[in-house]
Amino acid sequence: MIVLGIETSCDETAAAIVDSDRCVLGERLRSQADQHRPFGGVVPEVAARAHLQVLDGLIAETIGDSGLTFADLDGVAATAGPGLIGGVIVGVMTAKALAAVHDKPFIAVNHLEGHALTARLTDGIDFPYLLLLVSGGHCQLLIVEDLGRYRRIGTTIDDALGEAFDKTAKMLGLGYPGGPAVARAAAADDAARFALPRPMVGRPGCDFSFSGLKTAVRQTIEALPPGPLAERDMADICASFQAAAGASVVDRTRRAMAIYRFRHPGPATLVIAGGVAANIDLRGRLAELAADEGFRLVAPPQRLCTDNAAMIAWAALERLDRGWSDDLDFAPRPRWPLDPDAPPAAFAGVKA
Ligand code: KG4
Ligand code: ZN
Repeated sequence: MIVLGIETSCDETAAAIVDSDRCVLGERLRSQADQHRPFGGVVPEVAARAHLQVLDGLIAETIGDSGLTFADLDGVAATAGPGLIGGVIVGVMTAKALAAVHDKPFIAVNHLEGHALTARLTDGIDFPYLLLLVSGGHCQLLIVEDLGRYRRIGTTIDDALGEAFDKTAKMLGLGYPGGPAVARAAAADDAARFALPRPMVGRPGCDFSFSGLKTAVRQTIEALPPGPLAERDMADICASFQAAAGASVVDRTRRAMAIYRFRHPGPATLVIAGGVAANIDLRGRLAELAADEGFRLVAPPQRLCTDNAAMIAWAALERLDRGWSDDLDFAPRPRWPLDPDAPPAAFAGVKA
């Protein structure tokens, strides 16, 4: 089977074609970072318009790269949520139009399912596995039981991890997108100078919280002499932030591993996904944790951790393989939890 996937839920416009042999036959991605940078973050209206401007051309280029025609496709898929609704509508309408014109099934893909299944595309791993999903909008621990069956065992009670990276970058004047900039600045440092809080460490459950850490970063900046920050201070703060956030993620994930083991005895795999899974420091910490706890760690390559269309095409292909597709009246969803039955986060509404 061969599927075309479209991703437009945030600030990357992407198209990709993937086949059942886990080959990416064509792949194009255009970042909107330059358009959003002057505003210091993603502006939904700017994003939607920019997706509209480039998507048709990008799909044509992707088809061209693959050497295929629309007739060769077995399905056309798009991210149908969750995400910035203007952009999601652009991708969904385009996919529906292509599906209708070429008489192919349309598959509405949950963006989070795309992240969740990426390790099956890259490494061919089997269900079940434990998933740490850390992106700009989400921060969750899930047990991936099967296709379409996700059990959320932890989520953030305030900010997502990527959001905390982005806000830290903004406070330091490192610009947008912030995660990679913070990681680069931190790389030159030993993380020992500022003792920032390690949120949620030692607390029961597997939920996350990053707003207190963000406040601590702001207070640390304010306590430094006024004026532009020295490069050294900048690096120290980034390294301390990254170390504190990393320690928190490791603590939460270790607890999730115990829950996973209880439910699924035997060989166990931890998969990381989402934009922050591209972070080298975090990957190192999780590799150590996995070795400690006897889990195999699967970390997809960085370009497939951040938003991309190959993951959308792959998730659609898995659905199509089970005979699942969607009607053309499927409505795009700004919110779309992977586990709608998950209990609310512990301590929600309580400042950590
Ligand atoms: O998955 P993604 O591309 O989009 C969402 O679905 O949110 O994740 C984007 C997030 C942003 O917050 C970005 O700052 C963060 O991932 N990010 C990183 C790194 N690369 C991207 N954070 C830390 N270190 C990185 N190397
Ligand atoms: Zn994402």
